[in-house]
Amino acid sequence: MSNVMVMDHPLIQHKIGIMRNKNTSTKEFRALVAEVAMLIYYEASRNLALADKEIETPLVKTTVKEIAGKKLCVVPILRAGLHMADGILNLTPNAKVGHIGLYRNEETLEPVEYFCKLPVDVTEREVFLVDPMLATGGSAIAAIDLLKARGISKIRFLCLIAAPEGIDALKNAHPDIDIYVGAQDERLNENGYILPGLGDAGDRIYGTK
Ligand code: PRP
Ligand code: URA
Repeated sequence: MSNVMVMDHPLIQHKIGIMRNKNTSTKEFRALVAEVAMLIYYEASRNLALADKEIETPLVKTTVKEIAGKKLCVVPILRAGLHMADGILNLTPNAKVGHIGLYRNEETLEPVEYFCKLPVDVTEREVFLVDPMLATGGSAIAAIDLLKARGISKIRFLCLIAAPEGIDALKNAHPDIDIYVGAQDERLNENGYILPGLGDAGDRIYGTK
């Protein structure tokens, strides 16, 4: 079964609190998405494998650690995941980036795919799939279906806010995926929005409403 890690770090809780406030500006909201993503990624990357590497300091030869293997790939779900990816790339600037375009049909709440572009060697990489909101779970499940259909198996999902309904749906659909959550909220409303939530993440990042 999936591990679900809900972050308890005070910085994450503080910053998500500011994001929830409807009076927070687009500019500040956008910066906070990247900052909180970076902090969640710090936890989500904790168990990456390390390998030894021989180097020389200015004084002596020594052995240091580096992240093992073909390394990392960040995959934002468009649109709102893009700014999470920006934050993560501050910490691991050499990670490759894939993009998955999905939006929710406003009536059915079913995800609609419109774009997918992934690095050619993505199956050899640890994939960090990112989207600020896990509501019904439909978008995250569809994105992981899509990644698995392309032969990708090492996937972690990172979000800022999750509804219990979305966590359950994602755990049931993909029990092998670990889920990293900034804050777990109370429930979905009748329109599939997370309560108390922060509203529509894409609209708040881009100022489209
Ligand atoms: C939001 C969000 C997720 C999805 C979550 O995107 O960024 O992708 O909803 O909802 P779900 O768990 O019920 O699928 P949206 O569909 O609003 O698209 P946008 O990012 O293009 O605005
Ligand atoms: N998508 C969002 O952006 N916000 C929600 O509360 C639910 C889905």
